[in-house]
Amino acid sequence: MREGHEGTGPGAITPDGCAVELYARLPVGDEPDVIAAAVPAGARILELGSGVGRMTHALLERGFEVTAVDESAEMLERVRGARTICGPIERLDLGETFDVVLLASFLVHAGDVEVRRGLLRTCVRHLAKGGCVLIQREGEDYHTNVPRERVDPAGFTVRIVSAEPVGDGVDSVHAEYVFPDATWTQTFRARPLTREQFEEALAETGLKVDRYLTEDRMWVRTVPMTDT
Ligand SMILES: C[S@@+](CC[C@H](N)C(=O)[O-])C[C@H]1O[C@@H](n2cnc3c(N)ncnc32)[C@H](O)[C@@H]1O
Repeated sequence: MREGHEGTGPGAITPDGCAVELYARLPVGDEPDVIAAAVPAGARILELGSGVGRMTHALLERGFEVTAVDESAEMLERVRGARTICGPIERLDLGETFDVVLLASFLVHAGDVEVRRGLLRTCVRHLAKGGCVLIQREGEDYHTNVPRERVDPAGFTVRIVSAEPVGDGVDSVHAEYVFPDATWTQTFRARPLTREQFEEALAETGLKVDRYLTEDRMWVRTVPMTDT
């Protein structure tokens, strides 16, 4: 288990506290459409932290070629139709490049700054010339608007119960997913990043914002600083 991360509920739990059975149930939202609108048709995508393939499968259906990476073999077992690679993203070095690297699920908010740098360096290392890195950030009130809950039309409730500081600008976030027949919880460390802090973190690894893809600025298209 990664330090400060924990998960409860039925089935396997990943080192960052995610439940495999939970992610197998969560419906995909509009993420694949946001991605599809920002990249060339048929692009080769490297998806970092793919989980069970919630987004992978929707991207494959839209005609993209996806390589899915996750450190959980139990998550990757559920991925269908994509090449899968099991291991920590921060140490990934495939010796090949992709049109698009996808770092979603708020992974850029890693509490450990060295892990965050490692994740972003992996993105850059695998980027083909002219390619882009798509990043999903937390919403601006993610750590302050707590507790909060959302009832999903698919019949479950997601609750962000608390976000408590644990030092060095990092919060311990506790989330609950309540289904009629099962409940999962996840506790994880996340570092809130203002827009300025996020853009500084990008610059450290030689990336810059090309454009924010959504009004809430949660989805971002980034490119190497050397691209004009
Ligand atoms: C919150 S889940 C999201 C999964 C998927 N992106 C989705 O939206 O359904 C995060 C996933 O990233 C993986 N993960 C988190 N940190 C990782 C790391 N440093 N290296 C490899 N996998 C990681 C976890 O194992 C988990 O499957």
